[in-house]
Amino acid sequence: MKAIWKDTVIAESNKTIVVEGNHYFPPDSIKQEFFKESDTQTSCPWKGKASYKTILINGQANKDAAWYYSDPKEKAESIKNYVAFWNGVKIVELPNLAEQFKATRKYSEDLCAPLEIEDYVVQPSNNVSPPRWHLAHTTWFFEYFILKEHQRGYEEYNEQYNFLFNSYYNFKGDMVARVSRGFMTRPTVKQVYEYRTAITEKIAQLLAENPSEEILKLVEIGINHEQQHQELLAYDIKYILGTQPTFPKFENRFPSITETQSEQWIDITEGVYEIGFDKKGFCFDNEKPRHKVYLEAFSICNKLVTNGEFAAFIEDKGYKTHHLWHSEAWEYVNTHQLDAPLYWHFKNGKWHTYTFNGLQKIDPDAPVMHLSFYEAAAFAEWKGLRLPTEAEWEVASPHFKWGKLWEWTNSAYLPYPGFKKEAGALGEYNGKFMLNQMVLKGASFATPENHERPTYRNFFDASSRWIFSGVRLAKKQ
Ligand SMILES: [Fe+2]
Repeated sequence: MKAIWKDTVIAESNKTIVVEGNHYFPPDSIKQEFFKESDTQTSCPWKGKASYKTILINGQANKDAAWYYSDPKEKAESIKNYVAFWNGVKIVELPNLAEQFKATRKYSEDLCAPLEIEDYVVQPSNNVSPPRWHLAHTTWFFEYFILKEHQRGYEEYNEQYNFLFNSYYNFKGDMVARVSRGFMTRPTVKQVYEYRTAITEKIAQLLAENPSEEILKLVEIGINHEQQHQELLAYDIKYILGTQPTFPKFENRFPSITETQSEQWIDITEGVYEIGFDKKGFCFDNEKPRHKVYLEAFSICNKLVTNGEFAAFIEDKGYKTHHLWHSEAWEYVNTHQLDAPLYWHFKNGKWHTYTFNGLQKIDPDAPVMHLSFYEAAAFAEWKGLRLPTEAEWEVASPHFKWGKLWEWTNSAYLPYPGFKKEAGALGEYNGKFMLNQMVLKGASFATPENHERPTYRNFFDASSRWIFSGVRLAKKQ
């Protein structure tokens, strides 16, 4: 079961206990970062004294919406410290892994469905992969990490596909160079869809046959891997269409993002905090282990920087003022002659930007997006402020709304103390990229459902602009 408030999963467990129609969640299944102890107590004649917690999400509080019995009477001993919910918290059944698998496979195809066949194969920039490649690579992942490794006598669907659709796993053999993904016209898009259908059916069959814990774990990783590619698909489709001279529209279900909050600064006191993942449920290896960090007192803004604010930076010659930029960044903006965020075009005296609805005038109140770390840091410098570190962001995250855009932090992507990468090919998933990249926290409007959490560590090269990135500012108190 899942407990959900404000579209956020606050507890998740297959082992709830139902008492008087309420689902009581095991104490280790609730996401502590969303809860604050309350002074409220009530009494039940047969269960004993109930204590309450207030739920805090994105700066909004649901007072005393969770309760538990820390010292229940004998008849209620089985729910000791288990947590139940009311007051608008929805309790929904968890889809099982087989359902999640099928839904994930389908969503990738739904996302690509509005594309024309020509859109599937081009690679207009080295870091933009053709949609056809994403569809095949996510299938390759299931085939080569699960079927090939764990099904006795399994014959590969096509023995050339390991070379064509391996991304960066040296343990799995040689691969097509990343920059050459757009040179391949074969296999065709139709053949890739056939490949998807065949492997989806084989994995679904495997899941129906009481698979081992190891296979279940790999399917879960495969689902999360495909969800990451779904977001990359959104970036890459936008780049493919947004760099066409005709600025075509892309039909999709993404919401447009706006910012309606007035600016406030959230104060976080000095202290020792914990960051990183230590819950039940899925996380990537780079989110562990949970560990202590010391933070000086700081303040963080409740809202993201807007297009209007960024336009003022441009107007003030921000892109021409060397002392606002890191050395590497200054060289980059000059070499590439950058003077605005990616997709911004100055036409008829006004800034426009490419959106999935075509070229539109910028909305000054919407969060600015498609900035590199270089631009985010230069903007912060111009404001006399700074970017938060990833630890500051994670500690402060229950107090503001996040999830519209990935937020650049001022933290290099490095292993947490005690980080251990897995043996073999899965060890290549994250650990080997912990060099020369910066961390982004949060999620974006294109992040698949249930794929976001405050401990998530996204990471990109400091010059990356085609990602759905934005800026939140911080300052010393
Ligand atoms: Fe991948």
